[in-house]
Order: sequence, then structure tokens, then C-alpha cells
Amino acid sequence: MMKKDLFSAAYDCLRAESVDDKVNQTQIMAAAWQRGDLSLQTNMPVEAIHQPGRPVKPTLVSAGAVPKRKLGSVEGRAALLHAIAHIEFNAIDLAWDAVYRFREMPREFYDDWVQVAFEEAYHFGLVHQRLQDTGYQYGDFDAHNGLWDMATKTAHDILVRMALVPRFLEARGLDVTPGIIRKLENTGDQASIDVLQIILRDEIGHVAIGSRWFGYLCNQRGLVMEASYRQILDEYLPDRGFKIELNESARLQAGFSKDELQALK
Ligand SMILES: [Fe+2]
Ligand SMILES: [Fe+2]
Repeated sequence: MMKKDLFSAAYDCLRAESVDDKVNQTQIMAAAWQRGDLSLQTNMPVEAIHQPGRPVKPTLVSAGAVPKRKLGSVEGRAALLHAIAHIEFNAIDLAWDAVYRFREMPREFYDDWVQVAFEEAYHFGLVHQRLQDTGYQYGDFDAHNGLWDMATKTAHDILVRMALVPRFLEARGLDVTPGIIRKLENTGDQASIDVLQIILRDEIGHVAIGSRWFGYLCNQRGLVMEASYRQILDEYLPDRGFKIELNESARLQAGFSKDELQALK
């Protein structure tokens, strides 16, 4: 019998709709890859994915329509945890899509992104547990589709994907998480703070993976890494604002250079 291939496995994870299916499939496929049970030979064509499998709820609304709530109330804390759970759920799909879509990379690329998918499923589980502890669950608040929008915008070029998903979106997560942790300190919700510390630690690794492969691709194409990154940001996100303070130590660990951080400020 022919071995199952990694790209079909990634596709199955992308298609999984329920929360449990998405997380379980991700764990099963990541373990299968690590055991060497999935091959890199495939006949599966690369399809556009307009929307990966997801539960019926949360309802997706425009980013501006997601209500901001104060953290002082239980509902406010639940809304924050829900927003983070939504990011982690999408991040599972973003990682599998990096595997599924880009076929010509060295084995280590797939090792890295399978590991990211596995960790995103872990993060989702941790945050979802905190959300459930507050009496809510994933789907109880509206959410926006900004993360998957970025996947479709960058599906044509792995260089642009590495720049804008790990090195922009996930890197911005490094910037904002310490502020969220500080706000949570006022609520005394130590369990959620602990979860965010784990996420912050792992996300440095995800951004570093983005830097590693962005650098690899720049090198392959004869591009200068820092200039290419700036150019991609200017082309795709001309209106990006950096109103938030950069988490410089985390970004340095994740493969941004000092000059690059200076230029981003
Ligand atoms: Fe994550
Ligand atoms: Fe991540």
C-alpha cells in the first residue's frame, strides 16, 4: 500500500470543521510525520482554499465590528480569551496551509511547519480551556477573518507568505502579548497569564522559523533579506501602523536584526 503523503494529511487538517476534529487530526498527523509515516511524494494538486473547515460559529464579521470589551468583567475577559482562541484556531490552518501549498522545499521546512501546527493546536486547547473555565466556549462571540485573508493574499508566493504571516502577523503577536499580560495582572487571572507566557515563548520560535525560511528563500533568489522584507510590507500593507511598541528582545531572538527593528520604528 502506498504511504499517505504529508500534503494530503495537511489538507485533511485544513478541511476538518469541528474544534475537536481540527485539534485531533493535527495531533495525529503531526505524530505520523514525526514517526516518518508520511511521504513527500504526492499526486495531489494544489488547490486554492477560500475558507478552510471551521465550525458554524463564530460568526465572521468585519474587523471593526468585533466589539471591544473592558477586561474588568468576566464577559470582557471571556471576549479577550475568545479573540486569542480564534487567532490560535486560525494559526493551525495557516501552518497546515504552509505545508500543503508549498511543495518544493527541503524536508526541514515541513518539520518546522508541522511543529508549528502542533503547537498552535496546543495553544488553542490551552486558551479554549481558560475560556470554558470562565463559562464560555469558542463560537460565543463574533470574530473576524483577517488571518485567513492573509493566507489567501499570500498563497501565490512562499516568500510573501513567510514575510507576512510569521514575520508580520505572528511577530506582531510578540509585540502585543506583554501588554495583554500586564492588563490581566490587574484581574488576578494567573491561569490565563500562565497560558499567555507559554504562547509568547512558543511564538518566538514560530517567528524564528519564519525568519529562517524567509532568509533561505531570499538567498535562493539572490535577494537582500532586509530590503525584500521592507518592500513586501510596503507593497502589501502600505497602511500598516506600528502604534504598538516593538518587543525588541523577542524580535531579536526571532531573527530580526537591530537595523531592521530600527527601520520598523
Ligand atoms: Fe500560537
Ligand atoms: Fe504561532
